[in-house]
Amino acid sequence: MTVCAQKSYVFIDIRNRQDQQNYPVTQDSVPDAYAKDIAGVLLSQQDILHGLSAVSARINQDVQSLSNSQGIVLVTVLHGAMIFSADLMRRLYFPFQTDSVAVSSYEGIQSTGSYQVKKEIGHSIFGKDVIVVEDIVDTGGTLDFLIRHIEAKNPASLRTVALLDKVDRRKQQFAHIKADYTCFVIPDVFVIGYGLDYIGHYRGLPFVAVKKD
Ligand code: IMP
Ligand code: MG
Repeated sequence: MTVCAQKSYVFIDIRNRQDQQNYPVTQDSVPDAYAKDIAGVLLSQQDILHGLSAVSARINQDVQSLSNSQGIVLVTVLHGAMIFSADLMRRLYFPFQTDSVAVSSYEGIQSTGSYQVKKEIGHSIFGKDVIVVEDIVDTGGTLDFLIRHIEAKNPASLRTVALLDKVDRRKQQFAHIKADYTCFVIPDVFVIGYGLDYIGHYRGLPFVAVKKD
């Protein structure tokens, strides 16, 4: 197996951005019950579009090097990456199949540190080029587990994409773990929206927000 991405890319680091929690919640579509739980909007819809453009342009370019591909499979990590992945795949200009995988690790806001496949990839990915799409890399345990789980299936190559990375939260044992493509590095805050949840809620918010404690 070859890991094809020559280097890893981080497109936008917002950790030192001055206005990072000052965007107002403007969308009428946010239910009052959710609006009261939002400390601030970290990434607006406009920010997310910038991240999507940057990451999709890079992937579209890098995939051109897969001249002998037996097929590309885009694997969405459920459920957190479903919205990001749906937006990303509409910006990818090459043929690919879609699949998904679900891993459990997180109970509430504390990672349990033990990982389990809850929903397996449906296709055979043997000999194929796989692109895994994750919502967020936090301690790094889930991505580490997923990389090992997928590598054991002998794909031709594996690339990982993450919408968000809380690099300051990385556990020491996973210090080497990062996605090949990261849209946003964010501060150590618990975020919701644009697919990310707190016990199943808030995934439909159209932006990434910081959850009130
Ligand atoms: P890790 O294994 O600690 O890297 O955690 C990764 C998983 O935890 C992600 O796929 C998310 O489902 C979840 N997670 C981590 N941080 C957050 C957050 O701030 N909001 C929502 N989910 C999170
Ligand atoms: Mg989650």
